[in-house]
Amino acid sequence: MPGLTIGDAIPNLELETTQGKMRIHDYVGDGYCIVFSHPADFTPVCTTELGMLAKYAPEFEKRGVRLLGLSCDDVESHKEWIKDVEAYTPGSLVTYPIAADPKREVIKQLNMVDPDEEDASGNQLPSRALHVVGPDKKVKLSMLYPASTGRNMDEVLRVVDSLQKAAKHKVATPVNWKPGDPVVISPSVSNEEAKQMFPQGFETTDLPSKKEYLRFTEV
Ligand code: BEZ
Repeated sequence: MPGLTIGDAIPNLELETTQGKMRIHDYVGDGYCIVFSHPADFTPVCTTELGMLAKYAPEFEKRGVRLLGLSCDDVESHKEWIKDVEAYTPGSLVTYPIAADPKREVIKQLNMVDPDEEDASGNQLPSRALHVVGPDKKVKLSMLYPASTGRNMDEVLRVVDSLQKAAKHKVATPVNWKPGDPVVISPSVSNEEAKQMFPQGFETTDLPSKKEYLRFTEV
């Protein structure tokens, strides 16, 4: 059975978090939301990730993106752990909620289980999963990392910029794109439509096939 993936609505689960009970859809609201899981509290890589996300929080807020952490341990453990996280990354304040999942019900429904990791009692642990959820509550992008690999927060911010650019204009972002770089026009847009949609103009790359599908513009 495939788990939660791109295009699926995120289940509207009720979560127990460091900021009280909440339903996922209420928390997403009309904006975007990044739901990100961690194998366990008081573990090294997770501590660095949570601190860096807290540091980047103002950048996500500018883009209308809410952050929602998840680790299996209980809320009391999360609250203690946050003190370490903030101490390790000076200037970071964990203002986003972190959900608890001691029964491992949430991680199963959000496709966040790491089959290779378990705690000392043999309970399953979450992978480093990350879902970017859109205002329609659907998953726009997912990242799935093992416990041993910390995520790159610049990349998380970059993919949000790409998703929001693509949602606003009929464009896509090419390899290694970063904000400010040219974007490509979606293949579903004809040249005639592109002239209307991009009055600033666009450049078509001359390819051996002579097919005019690689068109760059600035938005
Ligand atoms: C960590 O966060 O460093 C970690 C957690 C679980 C397994 C391996 C590493």
